[in-house]
Amino acid sequence: MSDNPLVAGLYDPVMAIPERTVLRPHREALVADLDGDVLDLGAGTGAMFPYFESLDSVCVEAVEPDPGMRRQAVEQAEESSADITVVAGDAQDLPYDDGTFDAVVASFALCTIPDHERALDEVTRVLRDGGEFRFLEHVRGDGVGGRVHDLLAPAWHAVAGGCHLNRETDRLLLGDDRFRAVSFERNEGLAGAVLPVVRGRLERRRRPGLKRMLGEVVSARHTD
Ligand SMILES: C[S@@+](CC[C@H](N)C(=O)[O-])C[C@H]1O[C@@H](n2cnc3c(N)ncnc32)[C@H](O)[C@@H]1O
Repeated sequence: MSDNPLVAGLYDPVMAIPERTVLRPHREALVADLDGDVLDLGAGTGAMFPYFESLDSVCVEAVEPDPGMRRQAVEQAEESSADITVVAGDAQDLPYDDGTFDAVVASFALCTIPDHERALDEVTRVLRDGGEFRFLEHVRGDGVGGRVHDLLAPAWHAVAGGCHLNRETDRLLLGDDRFRAVSFERNEGLAGAVLPVVRGRLERRRRPGLKRMLGEVVSARHTD
């Protein structure tokens, strides 16, 4: 979390043009056909909130630790026709019971959360079996692009509210066997070489049932 009023104040003005030009279709895809209980992880100022309005039956919890970002998110939620509750919380230690959500949405959040692996553990915990984790992230480039990202990363981290320019979040997500990939896209061409952006949907695999786990313990004893 940055807890930096300057970052919170500049976020929406800086993002205004990308939001209007390139991000809209990504955000629309993130919410497509969602219903039920949805967690917006690292909601920021509420960039996803207008998109939730197009859905008939979602109940959104928006977790945001930065007070300046959260204040703007609360204002947006109050003006929104969607059912959105903004919560002060940390993705690394979510204030929800296991299996609370039908879907978790994270847009440009895993790049900033300090321990993104722990956040993914928490996402896995709070998702129901068969629930979806939907993400939109910028990631480290390949080849020369990746080396440039490595060089710029410390300065970027300092000015961009703790964002990690060179995180390989795509590898983390696609390598996690608690999920099945439903869809995954990465931008190509010049834009993809300068700043690769990935978008995807992962389905939470079913947890082994108690009956199955007990069965495994019993059969292990028999083979001792
Ligand atoms: C780049 S902004 C993205 C905001 C928004 N999701 C969007 O799409 O515009 C990253 C957000 O992650 C939040 N964040 C940082 N650390 C976090 C944590 N530990 N738990 C939850 N959110 C966190 C930041 O405060 C910030 O609002």
